[in-house]
Amino acid sequence: MKDIKITMIGMGYVGLVTGAAFAKHGFDTTCTTRTPEKAENLNKGITPFYEPGLDELVKEGVDSGLFHGSTDNKSCVKKGDITFICVGTPSLPDGGIDLSHVKKTACDIGEALADLDRYHVVVAKSTIIPSTTDSLILPLLEEKSKKKVGKDFGLCMNPEFLREGAALHDSLYPDRIVVGGYDQRSIDTVMNVYSGFDCPKFECDLRTAEMIKYAANCLLATKITFANELANICEFFGVDVYEMMKGVGLDFRINPAFLNAGVGFGGSCFPKDVNAITAVAKSKGYQPRIMNAILEVNETQPLRIIELAENKVQGVKNKRIALLGLSFKPDTDDVRFTRALPIAEALIEKGAEVVAYDPKAIDNFKELTDKPITYAASAKDALRDADICVIQSDWDEFKALKPQDFKELMKTPIIIDGRRTYDPMQMIQEGITYLGIGWKNP
Ligand code: UGA
Repeated sequence: MKDIKITMIGMGYVGLVTGAAFAKHGFDTTCTTRTPEKAENLNKGITPFYEPGLDELVKEGVDSGLFHGSTDNKSCVKKGDITFICVGTPSLPDGGIDLSHVKKTACDIGEALADLDRYHVVVAKSTIIPSTTDSLILPLLEEKSKKKVGKDFGLCMNPEFLREGAALHDSLYPDRIVVGGYDQRSIDTVMNVYSGFDCPKFECDLRTAEMIKYAANCLLATKITFANELANICEFFGVDVYEMMKGVGLDFRINPAFLNAGVGFGGSCFPKDVNAITAVAKSKGYQPRIMNAILEVNETQPLRIIELAENKVQGVKNKRIALLGLSFKPDTDDVRFTRALPIAEALIEKGAEVVAYDPKAIDNFKELTDKPITYAASAKDALRDADICVIQSDWDEFKALKPQDFKELMKTPIIIDGRRTYDPMQMIQEGITYLGIGWKNP
């Protein structure tokens, strides 16, 4: 066991997964939550959401005696040496971010620091607009603790870059670590925690670290949106956007990642972060143009599925549609901003009967909408007697389906694929009508 004790405030993806990774690296780590049941469960090795491999990592941490759950922020801060703020920063109606959890957490930490007579470093890990750490968190910490940053406690901003569905890999083997600090002592203390992580490490000031997170997510959202825009144009020429992007991605200045076209991006991060940076820019009197365009393209992109159904295969009215994939991407049960919602709603609006299936996200999706959707017990079950199959996220279970499955189970073997799950040549040769965004549709 290492001699630094860590507190993660927040038991969402960032807090729980990063906390489990710290425990794996030998740090005594406590994750706090306001929900007693979640804390009790964590102490029994039970995780609150689905993430591949997380159950095992959490159990390992709990069994080793290094990973704990708690509802008591203050006592955990007092016992620890470093506290990471990992609470949610959800969207406000105007697109800005809700900082109420961050404020409350900063107050709790400040009150705990008041009773501490040793140096402690507070680290903001939640995604927050530049200046939040120094102009909101810092004054609250000083006010509540009656102590001085730089002298009595340290302050850092350490953005998180993990992807849901691959969160374990990303937190155990990050491709970079960014630590912005109030001063060098704060940065050195946090970098010490990461000494066992083998990757490039970047030191900067607090605001730069905050902005790096937004810039990375906005740039990734831009790459996806660019691919989607080109996909829509490629179709006019019968050019396959997926093939084309392989050629484009060979340029080392571009690289092929995040150029997969389809129904657009969802999730708790890209939509929220692009919206937040847009809202803050507007509040400063600047009208961002690229960000606005990203949001606009992403809004209409899922509806391209309906357009293909209407223009290429006699529409969806009174048709039975198997909708495969409800989470915002495979390997997660997270449905926040999933593109499955606008697709399902538009299908129902056009008079279709929707039979939906997802390996993990059905319960969460049911909470998003009360539209008349039938939920199937498996992908094959959803395909039974369907007129059209729409694929919204490419889970392995869907990739494993054979052309024969579609032909045998469906009334008519028509697939409209929002993620390019299969090889179009193979599907077409097998007699399936395989339509999608960004390639030659018959
Ligand atoms: C994203 C970033 O990738 C992480 O680095 C970051 O830490 C995280 O946000 C965050 O801010 O917390 P995540 O939202 O979990 O991670 O998932 P991604 O794999 O980035 O996918 C986001 C969306 O983009 C999904 O709907 C996915 O289907 C879509 N996508 C992704 C595409 O449409 N095309 C692509 O080429 C890649």
